[in-house]
Amino acid sequence: MDHEPRNFEWQRRYEQNDTPWDKGAPAPALVAYLQKKPISGRVLVPGCGRGHEVRLLGAQADTSVVGLDISTTAVAQAKRLTSPSLSNGNVSFLVGNFFHLPPEFKGSFDWLVEHTCFCAIEPRQRPDYVLAAASALRTSGRIFGIFYLNPDTESGPPFAISQKELDGLFDPYFTLVEEWVPVDSFPGREDRELVRIIQKR
Ligand SMILES: C[S@@+](CC[C@H](N)C(=O)[O-])C[C@H]1O[C@@H](n2cnc3c(N)ncnc32)[C@H](O)[C@@H]1O
Repeated sequence: MDHEPRNFEWQRRYEQNDTPWDKGAPAPALVAYLQKKPISGRVLVPGCGRGHEVRLLGAQADTSVVGLDISTTAVAQAKRLTSPSLSNGNVSFLVGNFFHLPPEFKGSFDWLVEHTCFCAIEPRQRPDYVLAAASALRTSGRIFGIFYLNPDTESGPPFAISQKELDGLFDPYFTLVEEWVPVDSFPGREDRELVRIIQKR
């Protein structure tokens, strides 16, 4: 497998503030879930961008969150947006490639929260995404994934995916716990997203 992400100019896009995917707030489906159930323990958010989900998760009790992004500018901006009280242990940001996780990350996370990272990578790298997620999570660790099934784009990113393709990719290492179409989505993403909770075996 080729582990090098294709250059979709993430860095330039953050530098030039050309980031239409960033709605300036955490994903509504995650906000709604956390109002009912906790996501606690050690959490990894790959492709975290400016870190809106990271800060939301870091404000929960008993949660420490690592936001990872390949763009140095995204991570610098995420840090600037994060109040010192959250930076004191609950939240940290790291520049890095999800396909090359540091050895100390292996098996160390209770949760991985996916929002618009999976749809941003090339489809041929999806098996690598699944392997990286399985490697970062402890046994029985879970993914809270908001999967963008059918973005209204002719060519990605974002890249579309079907439920069947998701099954085929994750089933070898994960068990589907539950799934639902979120009631709350950003405008334009209504009925295009699928939330899945999947557990590492
Ligand atoms: C569509 S953006 C979404 C950012 C953020 N999740 C949000 O919703 O605002 C995709 C993000 O994934 C990051 N990214 C792409 N490939 C990556 C990789 N291999 N490892 C880590 N981050 C990556 C990009 O830099 C970008 O910030």
